[in-house]
Amino acid sequence: MTESRAGRKLKKTPPKFAVGEQKPNKKENGSTTIDAPSSSFSTTLIWLPVLLAVGVYFYLNPAILIQILDEYIGFSEHYDGAPVALQPAHAYLSADVAKRDAVVKTFRDSWLAYERNAMGDDEYHPISQQGSNLTKAGGIGYMVVDVLDSLQIMGLQNEYSRARKWVEKDLSFDRDDEFSTFETTIRVLGGLLSAYHLSDGDALYLEKAVDLADRIMPVFDTPSGLPLPVINLARRRGHHTKDFPGLTSIAEVATLQLEFRYLSQVTGNDDYWRAAERVMDVVKKARLPHGLASIFMNIDEGQYITSAIRLGARGDSYYEYLLKQYIQTNGSEQVYRDMYDDSIDAVHNYLIQKSMGHKMIYTSELVPEKDANDEISWRLTPRQDHLVCFFGGSLMLGATRTGSLSQSVSVPPRPDELSEKGKRDWKTGSELINTCMHTHDTATGLSPETVYFRVASDGMDALPNAPPDWYIKGAAVGEFPPYDARYMLRPETVESLFIAWRLTGDQLYRDHGWKIFQSIEKHCKVEGGGGYATIINVDENPARQEDKMETFFLSETLKYLYLLFDDAGTLSLDKHVFNTEAHPLPVFDPSIRTGFA
Ligand SMILES: *[C@@H]1O[C@H](CO)[C@@H](O)[C@H](O)[C@H]1NC(C)=O
Ligand SMILES: *[C@@H]1O[C@H](CO)[C@@H](O)[C@H](O)[C@H]1NC(C)=O
Repeated sequence: MTESRAGRKLKKTPPKFAVGEQKPNKKENGSTTIDAPSSSFSTTLIWLPVLLAVGVYFYLNPAILIQILDEYIGFSEHYDGAPVALQPAHAYLSADVAKRDAVVKTFRDSWLAYERNAMGDDEYHPISQQGSNLTKAGGIGYMVVDVLDSLQIMGLQNEYSRARKWVEKDLSFDRDDEFSTFETTIRVLGGLLSAYHLSDGDALYLEKAVDLADRIMPVFDTPSGLPLPVINLARRRGHHTKDFPGLTSIAEVATLQLEFRYLSQVTGNDDYWRAAERVMDVVKKARLPHGLASIFMNIDEGQYITSAIRLGARGDSYYEYLLKQYIQTNGSEQVYRDMYDDSIDAVHNYLIQKSMGHKMIYTSELVPEKDANDEISWRLTPRQDHLVCFFGGSLMLGATRTGSLSQSVSVPPRPDELSEKGKRDWKTGSELINTCMHTHDTATGLSPETVYFRVASDGMDALPNAPPDWYIKGAAVGEFPPYDARYMLRPETVESLFIAWRLTGDQLYRDHGWKIFQSIEKHCKVEGGGGYATIINVDENPARQEDKMETFFLSETLKYLYLLFDDAGTLSLDKHVFNTEAHPLPVFDPSIRTGFA
């Protein structure tokens, strides 16, 4: 499909059905359009005006003609001649081999640069071509372990064998320093478990995973059961953070469950499961009247404290893991479905907004403020992190799992297969992806770390060239770009594109993904073959780079791009659930039943 078609689609609200509205079947769409003027006359004379009318109609509505050519007559290659809506749930969407292989090349070049310059170090700096560790106590395989499953999925056998050997010979968690409980769990424990799963049970990974999890377990030893945010891996002792003593964030406590539960499933030791589940019990009991989650909780008391409410940093993966815990155990734990539904209702009630210019859906934040009398009031802040862009795909996935009326749904789902809530979430999700794509309308085609949306009271209308919908706060010509202006190789938009592609088969999502990939190639690639780097201002072309290649570039961004262009048989969404660092774990029928409800 052409760029211009993708561009045009991007400017409208997405071509999905509205709540309560029937989406016309693609075939019906074609025939009703043609039938309407011709049905009530019978003489041959009348064909001329009919043809004329049809001609004028298509002249005025060229998009419909293109759509009919494209979808009804089977014009486009990716559907293999069959309209996608008629395919069964396990539709086989074939690979775009050339684009997939381009992603593999970028991945392999980056990995080889890291391997050559910094093998085994936690972090990598592609401009200076050197590595560093998170602490002075030595590395914990932050990069290598995070990337194992990408190497497996992309079939890079030699590179994988070397990485495995490093895990076997050099990986140690006996590091006497403080590590983030959350990051260590999602990147390292998640990476080991996924490598274990994809290798059909390579014992090396399970042994390492158990060692790491046992070192982390003491964090749960608190009065409430909420985990401490920091862990000394050698001393096996949990700690508070220096910045927020006594506090932790909802995303940190509620994004360990997929990993710890799967570890129990494969080891038969249910301690991990119970510790992770107890956290969910605390979170459930702490529910606030509006059903939203404040980003901070008090660790000792297990209660929310008055703090911002958002789907971005410190909030995001709480919502993600409610859904994914339900999916992980094959829909057998109703409690997660209920908690998920409750939280998504609240998100719709309070956080979903429409932009001023193009009426695009976005999520805002609620920020508490104290007035002169010490009373708290909540200010709606039209701020959206790039991190929130996972949420579009997540909502669509949720619509097909918690919002479906049958065991499985079509690709894409028909309206009669979804409940009212399912239709609502599907629509919000696809519109949110559309909005995230709009935030790529920058000089580089890459989206900034954080955007603000216009609101009537912002006083910006008076400015020359006032943006219609969104802007980067604090960006000023000639000044050092604000933190919000950077793109640090984040995966969240392409993650949503991958999920949306699998659930719809709509080429639009692949087209968007390819554009993002090309922008990364153009602006983030470091000259001299060192890898790919963060850029500090998405609105500056050529972009200035910063000496950092986050592990999630290889473990998430390029993995999701690879999967977007691979065929749908690879890591089917019916059989896998991705942790928040893109590590696929299997869906299973749990052998442990705790009765948590
Ligand atoms: C990182 O830690 C590992 C293991 O202790 C060590 O071999 C390596 O030299 C460290 N890297 C740097 C850049 O300090
Ligand atoms: C999930 O449950 C369905 C039936 O409810 C079953 O057909 C399927 O095999 C299960 N999947 C797994 C991975 O256990």
